[in-house]
Amino acid sequence: MTATSVPSVQRPIVHTRYGAVRDVLELSEGMPVRAPGQREVQVCVRASSINPIDWQMIEGNRRLISRRRFPFTPLFDLAGVVTAVGDGVTSFRVGDRVHADNETGGGGGAEYVNVREGLLAPVPAGVGFAEAAAIPLAAQTALTCLDSAQVTAGTRVAVIGASGGVGHCVVQLAHSVGAFVVGATSTRNLGFVHMLGADEVIDRTTTDLVSRFGPASFDVVIDTAGGIEQWVRARHVLRPGGRFVTIARDEDGAVTPASATRLLATISARRIRGTGTRGVKYVPVFLKASGPLLRRVDAFVESGDARVHIARTFPLTVEGVNAAIDESRLGLSVGKLVLTR
Ligand SMILES: NC(=O)c1ccc[n+]([C@@H]2O[C@H](COP(=O)([O-])OP(=O)(O)OC[C@H]3O[C@@H](n4cnc5c(N)ncnc54)[C@H](OP(=O)(O)O)[C@@H]3O)[C@@H](O)[C@H]2O)c1
Repeated sequence: MTATSVPSVQRPIVHTRYGAVRDVLELSEGMPVRAPGQREVQVCVRASSINPIDWQMIEGNRRLISRRRFPFTPLFDLAGVVTAVGDGVTSFRVGDRVHADNETGGGGGAEYVNVREGLLAPVPAGVGFAEAAAIPLAAQTALTCLDSAQVTAGTRVAVIGASGGVGHCVVQLAHSVGAFVVGATSTRNLGFVHMLGADEVIDRTTTDLVSRFGPASFDVVIDTAGGIEQWVRARHVLRPGGRFVTIARDEDGAVTPASATRLLATISARRIRGTGTRGVKYVPVFLKASGPLLRRVDAFVESGDARVHIARTFPLTVEGVNAAIDESRLGLSVGKLVLTR
């Protein structure tokens, strides 16, 4: 193991139980900085970003599918500097600038966190820590959507939620591979989505895809907003054999045994309906983050084909995370909410 001088104790942002974010987040009194294990990289965290999954997990809404051991340091996304590497690490060295979606391991709110080597990628040249922390979860999800939708040059793609953290990445990536992109967004964000490279933008508060484009007008609909109405409308505008790719659910509350059962039944029913040449394929996407996927995303950033837009930057403190989560919950920001120290 190689290491720079790191303190033996850190004060990460933690929660020791599930609950309302403002009630449960606190600054730890002090926790040991662990040496990285086999194939782990220790990162000094310089920035993080907010994704809806962060507050859903802190509140315990996802505890049925992913339980936390407390005290837990939240926030999936992180960017920082490598301070030590564990045995078997071959791709990173002390001093490297790196970023990752550390998934259920969290750690974006830590001062130092150990990340599996396989989740990390180097921060692209010319990209600061704030943008680097905004990229991993949202942009990897966006690229997974494009892969799942089989988007290539000429594909006609509609993006629901085109101004959001994931949606604004989908628009840029689809545009950069030569797809014809229509973004659906609310009135105040029409200009922003145009600027991302959408060929056409519709105001979701006054227009819907069905009335504007008519039947069989898209190869793919990518839904980042959720709700049954997205699926219902998409079936009208997709061509036979077209794909409805969604990262969100019909209902956005806590995952309970009943809601999980309903979700599985819904997915099965929609998949069955999508079989056959006249059907529309229902493709739910669940991100599997990885270093190689993040490197693919970073290639778009390095070539200038995509930039993650930062809506607002907060301090990486308990109050900063609380304020950023309040704002994320409102669903009004364009692009990403970032935290830096
Ligand atoms: N499955 C996965 O692996 C995965 C990965 C990442 C995220 N997600 C989920 O995907 C969703 C989006 O994540 P995000 O980070 O992009 O969130 P976000 O930044 O909050 O963006 C969501 C966007 O959707 C739009 N919107 C809100 N309500 C809408 C509605 N009723 N109809 C159409 N558009 C609506 C809003 O933009 P406008 O007001 O401009 O339309 C909003 O900015 C969340 O539920 C998140 O948990 C899932």
